[in-house]
Amino acid sequence: MSDHLYDVLIIGSGAAGLTLALRLDPSLRIAVLSKAELTDASTYWAQGGVAAVLDETDSTDSHVADTLVAGAGLCHEDAVKFTVENGPDAIRWLIDQGVSFTLDADAQPHLTREGGHSHRRIIHAADATGRAISTTLVSRVRECPNVDLLENQVAVDLITSQKNGLPGPNRVLGAYVLNTETGKVDVFRAKFVALATGGASKAYLYTSNPDIATGDGIAMAWRAGCRVANLEFNQFHPTCLYHPQAKSFLITEAMRGEGAYLRLPNGERFMPDFDERAELAPRDIVARAIDYEMKRLGIRCVYLDITHKPAEFITSHFPNIYQKCLEFGLDITKEQIPVVPAAHFTCGGVMVDLASHTDVDNLYAIGETSFTGLHGANRMASNSLLECFVFAMAAARDIQEKVARTESPPPCRDWDESQVRNPDEDVVILHNWEELRRFMWDYVGIVRTDKRLARALHRVELLQSEIHEYYSNYRISTNLIELRNLVMVAELIIRSALARKESRGLHYTLDYPELSAEIHDTVLAPAPASSAH
Ligand code: FAD
Ligand code: SIN
Repeated sequence: MSDHLYDVLIIGSGAAGLTLALRLDPSLRIAVLSKAELTDASTYWAQGGVAAVLDETDSTDSHVADTLVAGAGLCHEDAVKFTVENGPDAIRWLIDQGVSFTLDADAQPHLTREGGHSHRRIIHAADATGRAISTTLVSRVRECPNVDLLENQVAVDLITSQKNGLPGPNRVLGAYVLNTETGKVDVFRAKFVALATGGASKAYLYTSNPDIATGDGIAMAWRAGCRVANLEFNQFHPTCLYHPQAKSFLITEAMRGEGAYLRLPNGERFMPDFDERAELAPRDIVARAIDYEMKRLGIRCVYLDITHKPAEFITSHFPNIYQKCLEFGLDITKEQIPVVPAAHFTCGGVMVDLASHTDVDNLYAIGETSFTGLHGANRMASNSLLECFVFAMAAARDIQEKVARTESPPPCRDWDESQVRNPDEDVVILHNWEELRRFMWDYVGIVRTDKRLARALHRVELLQSEIHEYYSNYRISTNLIELRNLVMVAELIIRSALARKESRGLHYTLDYPELSAEIHDTVLAPAPASSAH
């Protein structure tokens, strides 16, 4: 069993985790963990770009106002202002790190448009913005001698003072981490720990997210004693490629921003019937409209059509999508793209303040795993990466301010494997994965009812007890850790959805189709922690 000691342990190597590592003082000893390869993160797959006020005809007030409208009354105005005001600085920092954004004819950053934005304010690197950001930040972090970048390390659980029987307020001491190359669980101790583990969209059968999006940070924080909020707001992106061989491939909203239409199989546009902003209405409205038309007509997909634009415009603005679709035999300059909605973003998460600090001392949560209050009931396009950069910067500032007066954690209990044996029936895990993702899609999806949610709750409780039994008796694996976390987050999603007796933003239920006059977050608090791990 190895014991590693750092000033700051960052769990996650997406936009949030890498930004925090780079924003901290180089005198600090930092570890960045990734459960797979460093670029295996939602960040790498981001297409559209990053929203920020960069044009002189745009304004902070306008970006704030658009975000509040998309968030359907639930955004925390202080978090929105904080994010938007720090946006231009975050973009300057990215440019200083070496991210090459697409430029226009005047050598200024080209700004595109997406749903809900009243201005062109999305800075991007063609249609593969995440790749440009991820690869650049990984290269920068690799140059930092104070940072250990550790791949194939799966954080299993946080180590807290309470679980170690220490007196005083509950504080984080580190994490148990499974090294998937050695199969051993090591102890990582640190003065500060930041969860930057991304979202939980893998809870759904169809998702735009990579496989790592299993809600690990939310589950670990919950088990450590943190509150979570607004987990009922799961965003479904309206346009993922519908093709048997495309596991999860997004067709960016920027395509609609640049003029693409949504059509039914008979060629008719339908979005103008649902919203005056038509294809550029916020995502919840567009996804629900597609879901409605698919169910009404009994069709498997709708179509995104950009063929009316010149071929050169399409291939230069969307080279990545053009190429990918060609691989599937589809020429998007001539043919419409079959699309369906898929789970895309977790708006709720671990509750944090404006310094990204959670309920547990010295524990931070940043990026998609956190709940800052920015997104309200529906995230506006391209505000997510912005949140990662701004709140990672805020966490860095807070850690920096506290680090000199924070002691290193004491030695912690080793991971105890004395009571477990090697698993004999991995089929249980596979079966439960499939069952979970199927019923979450069918019962906790774009349109909900209390009856469907109650069914889902019943099933998730059965899965919880089966997985708990498996976890207590067998040696752990990545698959089991992820399933345990995802089932826990699924339960929190369902409980949050059952608690909201109205339809607002991304939470739409046939039982309460109206907005309630009362505006409130759904906050869930864990029972006091036990001392077992
Ligand atoms: P991620 O980038 O998902 O990184 C999570 C990291 O945590 C990974 O390194 C993973 O290995 C690690 N991790 C997770 N669990 C563990 C564990 N137990 N132990 C160790 N490591 C762990 N947003 C925008 O603003 N603009 C866009 O254009 C945009 N396009 C998108 C396109 C796609 C296809 C997708 C999926 C998302 C898009 N989003 C976009 C959303 C945005 O990309 C994500 O919200 C954002 O990248 C999340 O960053 P993050 O750092 O919080 O998490
Ligand atoms: C997209 O490019 O459509 C995704 C943008 C986002 O999720 O913010």
